[in-house]
Amino acid sequence: MTEIRMIKGEGHMAIIYDDRKKTFTLNTESTTYQMQVDRYGFLLHLYYGKLAEGCMDYVLTYYDRGFSGNPYEAGKDRTYSLDALPQEFPCRGNGDFRAAALTVRNADGTYCCDMRYRSHVIVKGKYDLPGLPAVYGTEQEAQTLEITMEDSASGLQAVLLYGVLPELDIITRSVRIVNAGEKKVYIENIQSACLDLLSGNYDVISFYGRHAMERNFQRIPVPHGSFRIGSRRGTSSHQYSPFMILADKNATEDAGSCYAMNFVYSGGFSGEAEKDQFNQTRMMMGLQDELFSYPAAPGETFQAPEVILSYTDKGLNRLSQHMHRCIRTHVCRGKYRDAVRPVLVNSWEAAYFDFTGETIRKLAEDAKECGIDMVVMDDGWFGSRDGDFSGLGDWHVNEEKLGGTLRDLIRQINDMGIKFGIWIEPEMVNEDSDLYRAHPDWVLSVPGRKPVRARYQLVLDFSRKEVVDALFEQICKILDQGNIEYVKWDMNRSLSDVYSAGTEEQGRVLYDYVLGVYDFLERLTARYPDLLIEGCSGGGGRFDAGMMYYTPQIWCSDNTDAVDRVKIQYGSSFGYPVSAVGAHVSASPNHQTGRRTPMYTRTVTAMAGTFGYELNLGALSGEEKKEIRQQTDLYRKYAPLIQNGTYYRLSNPYEDEIGAWAFVSEDRRKVLLNAVTLDVHGNMTVNYIKPKGLKEDAVYEDMSSGQRYCGAALMEAGIPLPAAACEYEAYQIYLEEV
Ligand code: GLA
Repeated sequence: MTEIRMIKGEGHMAIIYDDRKKTFTLNTESTTYQMQVDRYGFLLHLYYGKLAEGCMDYVLTYYDRGFSGNPYEAGKDRTYSLDALPQEFPCRGNGDFRAAALTVRNADGTYCCDMRYRSHVIVKGKYDLPGLPAVYGTEQEAQTLEITMEDSASGLQAVLLYGVLPELDIITRSVRIVNAGEKKVYIENIQSACLDLLSGNYDVISFYGRHAMERNFQRIPVPHGSFRIGSRRGTSSHQYSPFMILADKNATEDAGSCYAMNFVYSGGFSGEAEKDQFNQTRMMMGLQDELFSYPAAPGETFQAPEVILSYTDKGLNRLSQHMHRCIRTHVCRGKYRDAVRPVLVNSWEAAYFDFTGETIRKLAEDAKECGIDMVVMDDGWFGSRDGDFSGLGDWHVNEEKLGGTLRDLIRQINDMGIKFGIWIEPEMVNEDSDLYRAHPDWVLSVPGRKPVRARYQLVLDFSRKEVVDALFEQICKILDQGNIEYVKWDMNRSLSDVYSAGTEEQGRVLYDYVLGVYDFLERLTARYPDLLIEGCSGGGGRFDAGMMYYTPQIWCSDNTDAVDRVKIQYGSSFGYPVSAVGAHVSASPNHQTGRRTPMYTRTVTAMAGTFGYELNLGALSGEEKKEIRQQTDLYRKYAPLIQNGTYYRLSNPYEDEIGAWAFVSEDRRKVLLNAVTLDVHGNMTVNYIKPKGLKEDAVYEDMSSGQRYCGAALMEAGIPLPAAACEYEAYQIYLEEV
């Protein structure tokens, strides 16, 4: 045996290498992952599932399979084929004809690659990825395994990275390509994680959507052929989330085996589930291969982003909780990882572009009356920005519009006891802007072609350092003008016309663009460590674990309709924590759907996120303002439970008449139950809300009514919700153990 280290006092060995069997075993508190270097040096995947011991190479079978070729060294043995064996990192061009995790174009124009085991190291702590977001973990919390594979003909190496975080039941994967050869190669496709499952019948769960209707749940059987989601937009996208689940076909919310892959990356991605000719399932996640061709000259390395993996046999809800805990405590960083976020009111749906300094001051005054902590001045405060056709790129304050300096405005607002936040969109430019007139070559645009416009804007070439530097300087000048405590970082179009004047290698631009965004954000968080940054891309167009490393909350959707939001937030909850979900109470009728909902319904829904407001408070009656005051007080009381509690989905809003969810404190003594009626009928049947995660033998008291319940009975029988007195009635029940 080489190095074996214990992690946590009496816990299991986190990473074990067995030199005799040539197996690597990765243990978390309740899962085991195992792989083996076989007699030819291939790295085969043996197992990922419930905690287990011993060598599991008995799962491998060898048969003579027609049209499944054999490696040369197998000689006359026709039973050994990579086309059938489970692999850790399958490469294109060595006899596995399924989807590949690595496709390389060699200097001779061929696409062959044959990676064999060379060496490995096991170290304490979690690896980090230079320039990229990644899960972090101390030496007490995590271990890292690095396995170096090599293609001897070209000298290309793939260093497979595994991070093991036992307490979180999380394993992370990533890969670094090192060109240790003598010729330049191109990486045409690289998937950060591959999971080959030999048996089982799986469904694939993914989340599709569109602007203002993100993360709809879809569950379908993995077909023969393949099921693939992804984004070619340069961002993770509204259309598909970079998150996917493989679930046993019998798995439910509360029981059954399921696996998740969550990509820690904010650009184009691919997620795939393939059922092969032998009914084996391969799941992969990584960079989008279209529009990607990354050069690696001799001596150069390429670092792929990270995938967070988790497994449980306790159903989808538990799997989600693994993701929540990991992202909340080991991806999100900074002061606001743990601190309760301010309740804010945003000017966008209150005034859109049509405001002055007075409008913002008035909003702050009303915010004060309503118990709101912060006012956010959204789009429209800079350059010639009175609509969406001009001004982006000119990050200087429109003092004429504000009727004074930004510094003064902030001071006046702070003097009222209200914090101040501001909107920016650093990656974009309007053609009608001084920046574009001065630097037309700073945009992504193909010489000799007219670019695609979206929202009248073009994309700045963040793959170029000088562009990132110039924008960083402009934005810092704004942030230095006063006590700005929050920034909403927006990004309002997809990337097309991918041509950078800064490189001859256009196949690297989309990836380098994302690195440029991360570089900007890293510098921003370092310079302003107490600044709360909320991500946004037309709502949830870049709602991913990569952004969450820099922005602990992300505006979840431009759709603020409470009823639609129940579904959007339900979908989001599978992969992402509530603490990351930007959610606001907006006006009724709703600006996106025209639907009328009670204020209380909008409030309960927005409390399943980073609670705030997005409406003209001045247009509300005194009664309504009083209601908001009570609700903000209530939110503050529940905020630690909402932000850090365990989240349970209690209904399926696609099938049930109610959307229902709960927050349960870690000690299971406090419970906040929430329900929103989604459908009304005559002579309604009664809906029961059934909590989960309580102590069976404890007694819980409804802190409003004084009614007492036995934990076990409460989870079994539930509480009948009173008949709805209006459309879309909402309920919140707060229980404490007595
Ligand atoms: C995007 C955001 C909105 C708002 C507008 C401003 O659509 O998602 O919340 O900030 O931009 O232009």
